[in-house]
Amino acid sequence: MSGFDKTWLSLREPADRAARNSDLVHKLCNHLTSQIGERQSCTDKVTWVADLGCGSGATWRALASDLPQDSHWLLMDNDAALLVEAEMRIGARGRITTCQQDLNAIEDVDLCDVSLVTASAFFDLCSEGFCSRLIDHIRPQGCGLYAALNYNGIMEWSVPHELDAAVVDDFNRHQRTDKGFGPALGPAASAFLAEGLRARGYEVTLEDSPWTLDAEHAELQSRFLDGFRQPLLEIGTLSATEIERWLAFRVAAISRPDSSCVVGHTDLLALHD
Ligand SMILES: C[S@@+](CC[C@H](N)C(=O)[O-])C[C@H]1O[C@@H](n2cnc3c(N)ncnc32)[C@H](O)[C@@H]1O
Repeated sequence: MSGFDKTWLSLREPADRAARNSDLVHKLCNHLTSQIGERQSCTDKVTWVADLGCGSGATWRALASDLPQDSHWLLMDNDAALLVEAEMRIGARGRITTCQQDLNAIEDVDLCDVSLVTASAFFDLCSEGFCSRLIDHIRPQGCGLYAALNYNGIMEWSVPHELDAAVVDDFNRHQRTDKGFGPALGPAASAFLAEGLRARGYEVTLEDSPWTLDAEHAELQSRFLDGFRQPLLEIGTLSATEIERWLAFRVAAISRPDSSCVVGHTDLLALHD
């Protein structure tokens, strides 16, 4: 169990799908298609895609129809139950291999023949050390990296509350605590990856991919807000009473017609010739 249950991942998947930056996906597809054109004369190898922290397979569902039809996906996660869910949901529609793997041991992932490494809602959990080791691991193979939906620290509500700024500050501080890879990059993940990848000769593009949530996303908003309680208590700047007052206000506001919430994410695409 990783703490990312399949119900939560299913709930966020449509919002993630809508948020993904389509220009980046388009650029990625063009790149892979041209790579295939170049290598067709010398080899008929399939395109391998390795998805890190695949969960129940949301990245496959978002990308598979746009990527070359012969793409074979290696789906990796340390949560066996999520891998079973991914296999069940993708079924015979995809050429996939699942692999239960603690990605802390990223050097053990065999990238031979992998053209593209993907991840969604994953790198904000990761540390500087992990991201540096990942870049060192993918660069010799020349793999591209598509890292979507990295939380970027922006959270805004159309209906304000006096504690919003303090809550966002504390939430973002908690995002930097250890999520299993050492101190997490949290909102700094995309910028850190971009700098490291550019230093290794990658062409990097960053684009916004925010969630924009309204009353139609009531259940997602409610579960999302529920997830604030523990981090805010752990940071400890706000009292339990203040936290409950803010949560009660935010939950009540979800159904208001003038209420919306923006949660900022960044998508990153890094390509190498
Ligand atoms: C926020 S979820 C995102 C899942 C999926 N990519 C999506 O977009 O729905 C993060 C995923 O990273 C996985 N994960 C976290 N730490 C991991 C580790 N050390 N090794 C492998 N996977 C890990 C979790 O199990 C979870 O599936």
